Amino acid sequence: MGRHLKKIETKAGIDRRETGYYSTPDFVAEFIAQVLIKLNPQGRTALDPCIGQGEMVIPLLNQGISVEGMDILPFDLPAVINFTQTDFLQYYQQKKLLSIFNTPIDLDYDFYLANPPYNCHELTYIRDNKTRLSRLFWDIGVHNMYALFIAALIDCAKPGALIGLITLDSFLTAKAHQNLRHKILKTCAVHYLLLCSNDLFLDQGADVRTCIMILQKGTDYQGTVKVANRTLNQRDFQRILIQKQWTELPLEKITLAGEADNSEFIIDIPDEIQNLFESPRLGNLFSCVTGISTGSDRTYLSKDPRPGFTIPFYKNPGSCRFFTKPNAYLVDDFLSVAETIPNFTIRNKSLLYQPGITCSSMGVTFSACYLPPNSTYGVNANIITSDSDTWWLLAYLNSHLVTFIVRSLLNRSNMITSGYVARIPIPKFSRIALTQMSVIAREAYLNQVSPKAARQYVEQINQIIWKDLNFTEETRVKIQNFCKNLIRVT
Ligand SMILES: C[S@@+](CC[C@H](N)C(=O)[O-])C[C@H]1O[C@@H](n2cnc3c(N)ncnc32)[C@H](O)[C@@H]1O
Repeated sequence: MGRHLKKIETKAGIDRRETGYYSTPDFVAEFIAQVLIKLNPQGRTALDPCIGQGEMVIPLLNQGISVEGMDILPFDLPAVINFTQTDFLQYYQQKKLLSIFNTPIDLDYDFYLANPPYNCHELTYIRDNKTRLSRLFWDIGVHNMYALFIAALIDCAKPGALIGLITLDSFLTAKAHQNLRHKILKTCAVHYLLLCSNDLFLDQGADVRTCIMILQKGTDYQGTVKVANRTLNQRDFQRILIQKQWTELPLEKITLAGEADNSEFIIDIPDEIQNLFESPRLGNLFSCVTGISTGSDRTYLSKDPRPGFTIPFYKNPGSCRFFTKPNAYLVDDFLSVAETIPNFTIRNKSLLYQPGITCSSMGVTFSACYLPPNSTYGVNANIITSDSDTWWLLAYLNSHLVTFIVRSLLNRSNMITSGYVARIPIPKFSRIALTQMSVIAREAYLNQVSPKAARQYVEQINQIIWKDLNFTEETRVKIQNFCKNLIRVT
């Protein structure tokens, strides 16, 4: 999502960022309506709790379904829609208050449709209502407006009611949304999970990753789930919907359910890769930690070494692989600074100065570089290793397989913290593969490769891994394509 607070207006003159207004494209609304009616041809009533100009409900109206709508703003809507100007989350709160002894709310609607609000509006709304919302959404936590809408809709729905959503997709993998995922999986059947192309709302000024999810209240309704991965553009996405080019999978195949996992929704992941999640995780084998948060990098870090600032400090290798220079030099007396300055924090003090691997934190790609002894590091993920493990692990972390695992399974959104890195599965490689990978990574490091030159080393590592893990051609191609189009498909 763009960071600059430009005013982006809709045709009707509403500031999109103020209200979180982004219109659902017609073909998406048509698709969701068709699916809902197919799943329940007897359905007669529908609610859109953030109806806007009615984009999502028009196709249902055309099928003779009786539609009610809510919105904080009044828009010009067809007269047949029964509209109430209200805050849906407040409406939900009222319903909860009235449900004595926590009896289910069970509103009478057969269908719910929503493209819940997001963007600046949600930040202000959440900040202004934090205490109230935290009490109301104690089970899922208060992170995004769209997640609150999903949770509230699930609670309002009667058994069998269908919920058709087009919404941001960060809840599919982000750790913060694990309780929302649990709520969905414990209370609903998931019928469709289709990732939308990233350009879907681009013409309205929103560079957002979204998905279509169709739920039904009650897990007894669960059959196979129709899933589709992100396409490169809207045209291909539209084709998927029209030609029904999805895959049908059992629910277990689209969630990560291991002890170390958080019920992430995963899409289009080959069995060969999903099975790797039964291997030990990086965090079981190595310490994977964060280090120092200075609270004021300007005060305590120097770009170049100078008297008083001589300790190499790594905080994000960015696009570098295998080799990176220190990002800065830390103030020499940082230990005493930490004792007196409250927001200068040192985590995992006993592991400071130990060698290993430093990983990227921001950016779409994931990369790793050697962390020399006697260095310090920031709040990115750092792995402490012995010399016998450093080099093959460094090779593995820079492989396309790990990029795929990190970006299509563990976390689709930007920030890769040590918690995510610790969950990367470590396959059982043969001794020969470990040796070959070590030789390549060490050579790349010693040659101080540039990000561009690193590519050929990564390619050699890919070949070793694929051969050693016996990956099919189909899986290799899937990984390669994913990594090639990373920005458009994550
Ligand atoms: C992403 S737009 C969706 C508009 C339209 N339903 C569509 O699908 O194209 C989100 C809508 O939510 C409305 N909204 C924002 N906060 C709301 C709230 N607390 N309760 C109800 N509606 C809200 C906005 O006014 C806006 O119309």
